[in-house]
Amino acid sequence: MNLTPTQLERFERDGFLILPKLFSAAEVAVLLRELPALFADDTPANFREKSSGVVRTAMGLHLRNAVFSRLVRHPRLIGPATQIAGDRLYVQQVKVNVKAAFGGEAWQWHYDFATHRGEDGSPEPLALNLHVFLDDVTEFNGPLYFIPGSHRHGPAPSALDTTTTSYPLWCVGNDTVTKLVAEGGIVAAKGPAGTGLVFGDCMVHGSPPNMSPWPRRIFSLIVNPVANALTRFQRPDFQHHRDLTPIVPLADDCLLGASRAAE
Ligand code: SIN
Ligand code: MN
Repeated sequence: MNLTPTQLERFERDGFLILPKLFSAAEVAVLLRELPALFADDTPANFREKSSGVVRTAMGLHLRNAVFSRLVRHPRLIGPATQIAGDRLYVQQVKVNVKAAFGGEAWQWHYDFATHRGEDGSPEPLALNLHVFLDDVTEFNGPLYFIPGSHRHGPAPSALDTTTTSYPLWCVGNDTVTKLVAEGGIVAAKGPAGTGLVFGDCMVHGSPPNMSPWPRRIFSLIVNPVANALTRFQRPDFQHHRDLTPIVPLADDCLLGASRAAE
């Protein structure tokens, strides 16, 4: 699947793009079926919320599960990513951010390149974050908030926060957020399960806690050009994978169809 010129322009302008109906209900069901076993694994790749202990994010999924190993090569994700960032992309990070009903905690204001540079020595903010909503995402269950246009300001000042949540994150201060929001406002990325989302490495974003009875599970694949690979190796592989083999997309029916049955 290809992004239209209008979609590409919108991505350039806003720094993010929502892709309605990217995956079908049947495809989402195939992905959801795999989650309970993955969340039950006792592994450092599953981060748990500070207060409730429920899974906050489950990482390295393409190496732990055959269905997610296909999803990271899905042409509906890799096609748009290739249009934006070129065709030699490697899998940098693969996860489901869980945001559990009643227990899912906030993701502070941040942009991903602060962590990619600060932890992994990524040279340039060229990575792309590709999301698939696995639940309906509404104003109630902790949607991502974006500051449209914040990516055009380049990397904002940021600092490593290791205390607010269980996941260490390079975060942007309130003064910077206030200035960026005065210019760009805030948009909540909402949509039914199956919605896709693309955003770049300098997009300032975050999400509030989930105090609703509805879970908010979102699949996230970060891809990065091979030429922009990590230069520091202090974080575990599941936070920034070392395999720089360029992604080769599978067939469009790889989650449901004959190509899956043949495996
Ligand atoms: C992230 O920024 O990677 C997580 C945001 C979220 O899942 O709400
Ligand atoms: Mn992020």
